[in-house]
Amino acid sequence: MQYQGKVYRPWPEAQSVLIQATLGCSNNQCTFCTMFDDKRFKVRDIDDVFADIDRLRMFYRHVPSVFLIDGNVMAMRTDKLLQILNKITATFPECEHIALYAGINDIRRKSIDELKQLKAAGLTIAYTGLESGDELVQQKIKKGMTSKQVIEGMAMMKQAGIRVLLSFIFGLGGRDRSLQHIKATTDLLNITQPEEIAPMALAIQPGSELEQEVQRGEFVLPTPLQILEEEKYLLENLDQFPLFYWGDHGNNIVSSRGWLQDNRQLYLDKVNHAIANHPITQQQILMTSPW
Ligand SMILES: C[S@@+](CC[C@H](N)C(=O)[O-])C[C@H]1O[C@@H](n2cnc3c(N)ncnc32)[C@H](O)[C@@H]1O
Ligand code: SF4
Repeated sequence: MQYQGKVYRPWPEAQSVLIQATLGCSNNQCTFCTMFDDKRFKVRDIDDVFADIDRLRMFYRHVPSVFLIDGNVMAMRTDKLLQILNKITATFPECEHIALYAGINDIRRKSIDELKQLKAAGLTIAYTGLESGDELVQQKIKKGMTSKQVIEGMAMMKQAGIRVLLSFIFGLGGRDRSLQHIKATTDLLNITQPEEIAPMALAIQPGSELEQEVQRGEFVLPTPLQILEEEKYLLENLDQFPLFYWGDHGNNIVSSRGWLQDNRQLYLDKVNHAIANHPITQQQILMTSPW
């Protein structure tokens, strides 16, 4: 397979075969993100995607799981995405899981009927960036997304029966808005009740607009202690609903993965232990390394 440009897939999809359906990100403006800044958004030619799927069949005898890349595959026209899903299920009858990245506004641009068709054609889960529930942070990061839109998009996915993993970023409010950021984010999670969440500690990506804001002193990096306090607040204040917790991204100070209803106290104990004992809490600035 020859993928074009930088390739990303979320770590829960480590076992999935990657199929490039689109190139780049249809938004590509978020101040913290450089994931797809090397290419312009483009929907790939369907014959090229089909050829990739046929090639993968020749290499892999068992394909239980597929992840469609790049950044916002849900931005494709529904009829084209349906053709790809149908080709995948016809080519890999053993495949039980098809996932993709989807911006919340790409979801909202579909009708419920379209989303139901995607579900019926095999789409299992969408990975969507929430980032923050705090209105001010939402404006600053230029994601072009509001909490109201998140609530609408999530309700549509629930109606269609497609699971959603919401990712969000500890520390995105910086040093000054840490508490407002995590409170509003937790509130929004309690309203939308996603099936899975993936909180990630902020990484300052080289070349990002956020990196320039840090250099100009407009964004003050949070302390590692604030990152831990945000995770503590989240774990203490999420309501009781079935939720899978992917807290084990490589950037995080504490690593936890599992069903929250079975493990909440364990995860809280780990965070409290880190707050009391981890030497990183003595540092004044969150040190981040690029992905
Ligand atoms: C491909 S996007 C998710 C799908 C879609 N493009 C969207 O934004 O809704 C990948 C996710 O990785 C996370 N991410 C990206 N850059 C990050 C950074 N610098 N630090 C921490 N998390 C980051 C964000 O949660 C982002 O939503
Ligand atoms: S976070 Fe998602 S929408 Fe924003 S630039 Fe990155 S890939 Fe695109």
